[in-house]
Amino acid sequence: MKLRKILGIDIGGSGVKGAVIDTKKGRLITERYRIPTPQPATPEAVAKVLSKIVKHFKWKGPVGVGFPGVIQQGVARTAANVDNSWIDKDLNRLFSKATGCRVHAVNDADAAGMAEVKFGAGKGKKGTLMLITVGTGLGTVIFSNGNLVPNLEMGHILLHGADAELYATDAARKRLKLDWDTWAGRFNEYLLRIEELAWPDLIIIGGGASKKGEKFFPHLTTKAPVIPASLKNEAGIVGAAMVSKYYNKLEREEK
Ligand code: BGC
Repeated sequence: MKLRKILGIDIGGSGVKGAVIDTKKGRLITERYRIPTPQPATPEAVAKVLSKIVKHFKWKGPVGVGFPGVIQQGVARTAANVDNSWIDKDLNRLFSKATGCRVHAVNDADAAGMAEVKFGAGKGKKGTLMLITVGTGLGTVIFSNGNLVPNLEMGHILLHGADAELYATDAARKRLKLDWDTWAGRFNEYLLRIEELAWPDLIIIGGGASKKGEKFFPHLTTKAPVIPASLKNEAGIVGAAMVSKYYNKLEREEK
């Protein structure tokens, strides 16, 4: 089986997006195909969407899937912004069965981080690098000299006694109808707290909010420089494909 081209899929709060990825170049080689996330976003409903995406691309090879929760060996352990019935589901098994392809699932922020470090804003950067995806949730990833510690969940640290996601996500900005300056102040508070805990040398901001960087970057006061992600909304699918390639290689070596 060739592993250069892999179908990458990102499960998001509002859409499930897929494209065939050239994992060597970190680029999409097809158009992105998007299906709205079914509501409620149960495992079975999302598995059906995945099988539609696979059919759309007439795909038969390996698939990588980014999921918005902790994933240990293919099993979901948390589901902060999706249906609770995901918890303890073996996603690799569920999705492989639904699509007929070999599927590997990974945390969505970890996937985006892999792509940004190899092909995007983190390329060639040394030291401790942090990627924060700002969308429905807060995805957090740390790389130390290129090495990732998976499933870091610093989006849920406490800020003012509550989950930081309730205070500083892009979803909170929309829900509470905050103007950009107010939200930027909140997000800056969050970043300062993260800085006290993790001391990154560089912070990269990805996810939906990163498209509006000019509205809030000038308000950020961390010691570490903050830069926008460069693969924008493609990082998740590119990274999911990269992770699938990694697992497929491992499994091949183990045989
Ligand atoms: C989840 C993370 C996820 C992030 C971004 C958070 O609510 O706990 O696992 O990476 O949202 O989707």
